[in-house]
Amino acid sequence: MTPSPVLEERTRVAIIGAGPSGMLLAHLLAQRGVESVVLESRSEEYVASRIRAGILEQSTVDLLREAGLAGRLDREAQEHRGIYLQWPEERHHLDFVALTGRTVHVYGQTEVQKDLVAARTAAGQRVHYEIGDTALHDLESDHPSVTFTDRAGRARRVAAEVVVGCDGSFGPSRAAVPEAARRTWEKTYPYSWLGILADVAPSTDELIYAWHPDGFAMHSMRSSTVSRLYLQVPNGTDVDDWSDDRIWEALATRLGHGQDGWQLTPGPVTEKSVLPMRSFVQTPMRHGRLFLAGDAGHIVPPTGAKGLNLAVADVGLLAPALAAWLVDGDRRPAEAYAETALRRVWRCTHFSWWMTSMLHTSGDPFDAQLQLSQLRWVASSEAGATGLAENYAGLPIGF
Ligand code: FAD
Ligand code: PHB
Repeated sequence: MTPSPVLEERTRVAIIGAGPSGMLLAHLLAQRGVESVVLESRSEEYVASRIRAGILEQSTVDLLREAGLAGRLDREAQEHRGIYLQWPEERHHLDFVALTGRTVHVYGQTEVQKDLVAARTAAGQRVHYEIGDTALHDLESDHPSVTFTDRAGRARRVAAEVVVGCDGSFGPSRAAVPEAARRTWEKTYPYSWLGILADVAPSTDELIYAWHPDGFAMHSMRSSTVSRLYLQVPNGTDVDDWSDDRIWEALATRLGHGQDGWQLTPGPVTEKSVLPMRSFVQTPMRHGRLFLAGDAGHIVPPTGAKGLNLAVADVGLLAPALAAWLVDGDRRPAEAYAETALRRVWRCTHFSWWMTSMLHTSGDPFDAQLQLSQLRWVASSEAGATGLAENYAGLPIGF
């Protein structure tokens, strides 16, 4: 029996990954007249329901507004002026508006994803979900392509002018850069986060980042009725060892229940998971006609809320650069992408590492004194507070 022929499809940009970076890139390219095909290994529902990031920095919100994607965000997201930094007996508010004139918005990644999918579906975007065997080919030639097996088991090929790897930390794109042409930097941390989602009104108006001798804790939120909270736990922690009662008790201790009359209100836990923490950068973010964006190129620990924002910043740079090349024939912005994007990547990598190192306990009493000294300086000096605020609320795209 002769094998069935490979189904061929042609597009200008083949985008691997339908997460926020892939779908936003497809949207920004379409607005510039560049057509694309998105390839995704999971189902549309699975991608839409992954509980991940929750904070959008100012430049992310600005970009989503400019792209016409912020209708629901503007109606439903909560705008925050800043955050609280806390350690035993002390809680300090950092007011980003007073310090930098910028704010952040609480709007879950699940909601950003829904808005992106709705916009792309309305525009007739080609997306292949539930594909397998994704493989990248001929990236150093003028005719790159991606092969895969579709949901029905048929072999397919998308021929493109450019391939963009938006396939996150476990996708094949970053490894498609030959070993001799790539360099990686990596740091793992000796702790993880236990995160919960709870059906209870937040006990705080803005996020609380808390240093505590038992370990870091954070109080975040998704809406006026849904709270998101995190606890520092050792690597290898089994989520089943943490009953809901044990989690709420640890959160109450670390977040300072009773301190100055503040109360943490517990509620039904609807999701519970352990997240390992890693800093990772791979360079260059471009090889031949392959470009990397978002988690495919870099990963940050979540303490500074930078992962999703960095993914948005990458594609915010890449979309006009690819349009300049594919529409106007000017390759220079695309050639500069890797270097320009990397400057911001390292800034956010440093900030995420710094927030993580300042707030998580290592068990070393010397480190603890340094952390407390640093926290006091950040909370009480305008220079210290402005440095945190500027990085947290986000540097302009292209920084
Ligand atoms: P992703 O969202 O990972 O999307 C990549 C897509 O590529 C996925 O849909 C994946 O299924 C697809 N893909 C993978 N392999 C293939 C393949 N072979 N073929 C086709 N498609 C493929 N950031 C924060 O700021 N705050 C947080 O609290 C936070 N929590 C997080 C929790 C977890 C568990 C994780 C993993 C990340 C978290 N992040 C957080 C980071 C943030 O969610 C990411 O930075 C963001 O999702 C990056 O978007 P992306 O589109 O680049 O990658
Ligand atoms: C979240 O709400 O999930 C969140 C917020 C801020 C962070 C990390 C995660 O720094």
